[in-house]
Amino acid sequence: ALKPNLNSKTLVFAHRGSKSNNPENTLAAFREAIRVQSDGIELDVHLSLDNELIIIHDEKIDRTTNGKGLVRKMTSANIQKFDAGSWYHPNFADEKIPRLSEVLKLLTDLSFSGYLNIEIKTDKFNYPGIEKKLSELMTESKWPFIYIYSSFNLQSLKRIHELEPKIEINYLTKNILHLKKRQEGILTDFITGIHPRRNYALKHPLLLKASNRPFRLWTVNQESEMRKAFQQNVAGIITDYPEQALKIRQQIQE
Ligand code: G3P
Ligand code: MG
Repeated sequence: ALKPNLNSKTLVFAHRGSKSNNPENTLAAFREAIRVQSDGIELDVHLSLDNELIIIHDEKIDRTTNGKGLVRKMTSANIQKFDAGSWYHPNFADEKIPRLSEVLKLLTDLSFSGYLNIEIKTDKFNYPGIEKKLSELMTESKWPFIYIYSSFNLQSLKRIHELEPKIEINYLTKNILHLKKRQEGILTDFITGIHPRRNYALKHPLLLKASNRPFRLWTVNQESEMRKAFQQNVAGIITDYPEQALKIRQQIQE
């Protein structure tokens, strides 16, 4: 099996799978991320009407399927009836919106030994019970990969931390400068890592160094920004182009 090299200074995470050449958050996108030896995979999780953990970016299925509606108002069985690939390219017509359990099975079948970054998408809806559901599923087995949690929602992070105190908890923030102001409250707490948006973070590398926590930047898609991130030795980048990022990293860090 292809194995990522987790000794690298900057780990490369595939954003919603290898999103640049596959429909995002589908099994195809995750398979491709593993094929190119991504160190990590990022995915987004929501809760359906029947409390299943559903892997999709938006609250609605409209943009990435041939259907319409809010995930939270649909049953998991109903959600899976839609085509989640054709919007991207006809070759992907068989792709469905996966449940988290299906992604975990795929990663296990492929012996994925990198990181799985589970983003709890409680930015717009709280999805009551999502953290409990997640922790139940994640603690059910011993996985070949290492999983970590991330969210823009601090309450979600607090809840998942209480359920799984040993798992890495990463705070997602659009503005690293805003984080600086709130550093006291956030950085002294249960937050083990920060996932900032790339723009401010790349401009203010000292801010990153001031914290002892790993920083993983998103979404780093341009070659010039990838180079900057590797030169700054940030802990990770989250990118739609994992294959290209790994090639560039090789020129700079290895
Ligand atoms: O986890 C990093 C990134 O995925 C956060 O933004 O909107 O792509 O989920 P978004
Ligand atoms: Mg995300």
